[in-house]
Amino acid sequence: MQKVIVTGGTGYIGSHTIVDLMQNGYEVICLDNLSRSKEYALTGIENITGKKPVFYHVNLCDKNETFRVINEHKDAIGVIHFAALKSVPESVEKPLLYYANNIDSLLNILMSVKTFNIPNFVFSSSCSVYGNADELPVTENTPVKDAESPYAHTKQIGEDIIRNYEKTNDTQSILLRYFNPIGAHPSAEIGEIPIDTPNNLVPYITQTAIGKLEQVVVFGDDYSTRDGSCIRDYIHVCDIAHAHTLALQYLAEKRNANNCEVFNLGTGNGVSVLEVIHAFEKVTGIKLNYKIGPRRAGDVVAVFADNKKAASELKWECKYFLEDAMESAWKWELKMKELGL
Ligand code: WQD
Repeated sequence: MQKVIVTGGTGYIGSHTIVDLMQNGYEVICLDNLSRSKEYALTGIENITGKKPVFYHVNLCDKNETFRVINEHKDAIGVIHFAALKSVPESVEKPLLYYANNIDSLLNILMSVKTFNIPNFVFSSSCSVYGNADELPVTENTPVKDAESPYAHTKQIGEDIIRNYEKTNDTQSILLRYFNPIGAHPSAEIGEIPIDTPNNLVPYITQTAIGKLEQVVVFGDDYSTRDGSCIRDYIHVCDIAHAHTLALQYLAEKRNANNCEVFNLGTGNGVSVLEVIHAFEKVTGIKLNYKIGPRRAGDVVAVFADNKKAASELKWECKYFLEDAMESAWKWELKMKELGL
């Protein structure tokens, strides 16, 4: 059985990716410092797959710790690196925490990949590297503009580090730029577990619907869009997860054109905030308490992906739609209440 190391594996996208990898026959080694996730994710993974991944509670900002763990699994065919802090507002408030954590952990994991000759590397990047894109839909060749936040800047720096490393090394790497991940595994055994009040739209909706929060505020309905609210490319977390398995197989089978390729992971459809809210209400039958409020600083009016490259080269297609994501997000919110998470 081929082995894959997943950092940040108890996190939202990491845990869903571990399920997909295990269901595709891989043995998974999960690394996480549990600073923004819960060990419960391992139980949820086991409830779905019948097996718990090998887990290391490790601080990837500690080079010795990182090397010690990776050395024990240098027979892995690849590393998928999710571990990072990802709150945009927190990164604005604490930029040095974000630069130190996200860059140091990437450097340590990349140095261990080089030292132990692990052949393949998949990096969790973000559509936020594009900043306020001039053209839509966004393709992998859309120029990267100034980052809107220190978080987005750490993703731009991370991509540059890997790109420059690859100029003189032959690790095969892929940078996956996610658009807006939403939803949860259909089993409701795993999902996003916000540590504090969520910043993102969908967990804010489900927490309002279940009564944890009072009301959703729509940050502006006076934008130049079809209904005045911002447009995003909301993509089901299970579709994102499967793209990681396909990316690893693409590298392992040496189908890649060069040793550092970029792929957008989005549905290709732009959806507005109000359309998300109405989809949630339609799927759940719940009338959501929301109001229109002022714009949020830093929001781009519209961004959505051109996903043709991932479709053609990774043989990736989206299997879930907005309504599926709303249903699974709600089922997971109900399960978290039951579990006391
Ligand atoms: C979506 C839309 C808000 C909350 C962020 C990161 C990005 C990526 C995805 C990691 C916007 C509106 C939100 C609310 C609202 N993460 N909104 N009321 O900002 O598009 O992207 O998450 O890679 O890096 O920047 O996501 O969910 O915060 O907002 O009206 O209570 O929902 O204005 O238009 P965003 P979001």
